[in-house]
Amino acid sequence: MIERINRLVAEVESLKAASLVEVEEIRLKYLSKKGLVSVLFDDFKSVPADTKREVGLLLNDLKNKAHQKIDELKSGFDQDETASLAKLDLTRPAENLQPGSRHPLSIVRKQIIDIFGRIGFTVADGPEIEDDWHNFSALNFTPDHPARDMQDTFFIATNPDILLRTHTSSVQIRTMETTKPPIRMIFPGRVFRNEAISARAHCIFHQVEGLYIDKNVSFADLKQTLMYFAKEMFGESTKIRLRPSYFPFTEPSGEMDVSCNICGGVGCNICKYTGWVEILGCGMVDPNALENCGIDSQTYTGFAFGMGIERITMLKYQIKDLRLFFENDVRFLKQFTGAF
Ligand code: DAH
Repeated sequence: MIERINRLVAEVESLKAASLVEVEEIRLKYLSKKGLVSVLFDDFKSVPADTKREVGLLLNDLKNKAHQKIDELKSGFDQDETASLAKLDLTRPAENLQPGSRHPLSIVRKQIIDIFGRIGFTVADGPEIEDDWHNFSALNFTPDHPARDMQDTFFIATNPDILLRTHTSSVQIRTMETTKPPIRMIFPGRVFRNEAISARAHCIFHQVEGLYIDKNVSFADLKQTLMYFAKEMFGESTKIRLRPSYFPFTEPSGEMDVSCNICGGVGCNICKYTGWVEILGCGMVDPNALENCGIDSQTYTGFAFGMGIERITMLKYQIKDLRLFFENDVRFLKQFTGAF
């Protein structure tokens, strides 16, 4: 046993790695559950009592040396951002990182999902890296459509067909392409626009898109659904106001304001003294968008809406600067989590 330990010490001390991936391989080889060092610890159980202390000390020493070596190898690569990024688990939900710790945007996203869940909307998502068809063309934006200018887009330099989605409306298209009506779904997600960063705008933000397609869906259904949402989100006394607007993928289109829940509609600097705050765009899905996805627009109609999670969170918690959501300042975050 002692001989095996000494051999491994020499081996560990001479280890070299050419990349972070190799460091990870080394860690697995020696320190994972079935790794060479861990296996020695298993064998340690059957070491005779008279040598147990000596072997135990050597074993612990080996384990420490292995950890040290791996840290040392790792530190050689930490400057390499792309390699470090490869180790990040981007699929891990933020709210689960620490028990009880939740970002305000995650809290509000969950509230939105719950509110729509109670009236039968299920949740789906789509890719953040999109193609022109799903982000624009299928949504009835023609190539030279001026509406494309409404959304400053990050294109991939080597391929103008590929872009970072500017809105979650792209997920409507993906859903309609693959799902037969009736469809009653919401699509939360991150979106990207080439915007100057300020207290009111950011190049990254979050939306929740809604889509309801069936026979005989009318604007009255849209209005009632959105009114229910506004009252659930901001309180029973909340009023809504629909203003005519324009989006290429809905006809007619509207924008919805809610009565300002900060001043109660009297007027304050959040609602710019109008008593109303805009929270979403909406409308009846344009027949062209339905047909682009193979849905018969003679048989089916539907409504859609898209709201910004940041805007709703700001209104709900009276947050005055949108940049706070992205800075991860614990003094801001702990007001929502109680943690840290
Ligand atoms: N996609 C629009 C935007 O980002 C928001 C929107 C407007 C979504 C109308 C919709 C809609 O589904 O019907 O500005």
